[in-house]
Amino acid sequence: MVEFGVGILGTGKYLPERILTNEDLEKMVDTSDDWIVRRTGMKRRHLLDDNTPSYVMGAEAAKLAIEDAGLTPSDIDLIIVSTETPDYLSPSMACLIQKAINAENAAAFDVNAACTGFVYSLIIAQQFIQTGYYKNVLIVANEGLSRVVDWQNRNTCVLFGDAAGAVVLGRVDKKYGIQESYLASFGSLGHNLTIPCCYISEEDRQKRNEGKERVVWQDGSEVFTFAVRSMTDSIMKVVEKANKPMEDVDLIVPHQANLRIINGAAKRLDVDESKISVILHETGNISSASVPVALDMESKRGRLNNGDTVVLVAFGGGLTCGSVLLTWGK
Ligand code: ACO
Repeated sequence: MVEFGVGILGTGKYLPERILTNEDLEKMVDTSDDWIVRRTGMKRRHLLDDNTPSYVMGAEAAKLAIEDAGLTPSDIDLIIVSTETPDYLSPSMACLIQKAINAENAAAFDVNAACTGFVYSLIIAQQFIQTGYYKNVLIVANEGLSRVVDWQNRNTCVLFGDAAGAVVLGRVDKKYGIQESYLASFGSLGHNLTIPCCYISEEDRQKRNEGKERVVWQDGSEVFTFAVRSMTDSIMKVVEKANKPMEDVDLIVPHQANLRIINGAAKRLDVDESKISVILHETGNISSASVPVALDMESKRGRLNNGDTVVLVAFGGGLTCGSVLLTWGK
């Protein structure tokens, strides 16, 4: 019998200094602050400098999470990096971060489940810890979306930002930690959200501006519909699996793609909006980094107390979705 829980020991984040506001975007494409705020809730996003590799964000977030956990880089047994925007396909972002933080005892690999990647990574890490294979796993969600945006396309360029969030997952008192989880994929809907890499089909080429092939394209309304439905279902599933009434949930930390998606799910679930973490006005959509960055902000604001029931939920490319219900505390 397992005598311990698996929970979050520490959190960290990194947002680049450079800020791009809605007013800046008004000068770049035919858009307005009013449209962006009304249709998405976003006000500004942080962007990496063009000549800085993206993994440096993850390394900074990782150092803070390890310190917050009261550990050193040598205590980390495994590094999992969630990213859909790696600097290189090889070496992995996880190996680049391992080197940067000098985590000499860690194994390291990347996970790509798009915006759901952090939730997937948490569950992967949980298996390693629960079985006793590893003790301390560093999970970093590292996303440089600005690198895959067509800055002349108003449909997408107003939505995304760069950031990294990190947590250390490890053994906690058995009354705390991950209680339930849910993961799903819908590959047949994948064509609704694409970022080509080593190959691009003719159909996907046609959807993009000439010379801008390796950029994100999405069918906004199809993804929007999927997002509201999958976020609602993912929260409901994990709460039901934990055998809890929805009122027992103290905080929901969702993927930050659009305020209307978050509010749509809250309305369907009849959850008060005050119980939902919202950071997208400050960050834009930072893909899989959304959940750990929001979690770190809530933790530092003192909004997370021992014993709180917290639901983490995400959806995104693939298409994918997933959720985790945990009891906060070490
Ligand atoms: N500024 C002004 N007008 C704009 C802009 C803009 N930035 N972008 C689009 N418009 C226009 C459109 O051209 C359209 O004009 P038309 O009616 O003359 O054709 C009008 O606004 C309405 O466009 P819609 O696409 O219907 O706008 P909508 O209200 O659906 O919002 C949005 C678009 C924000 C993309 C929304 O559909 C959405 O959030 N979808 C989900 C996105 C999502 O969650 N993606 C996950 C990605 S995560 C990942 O894996 C990277």
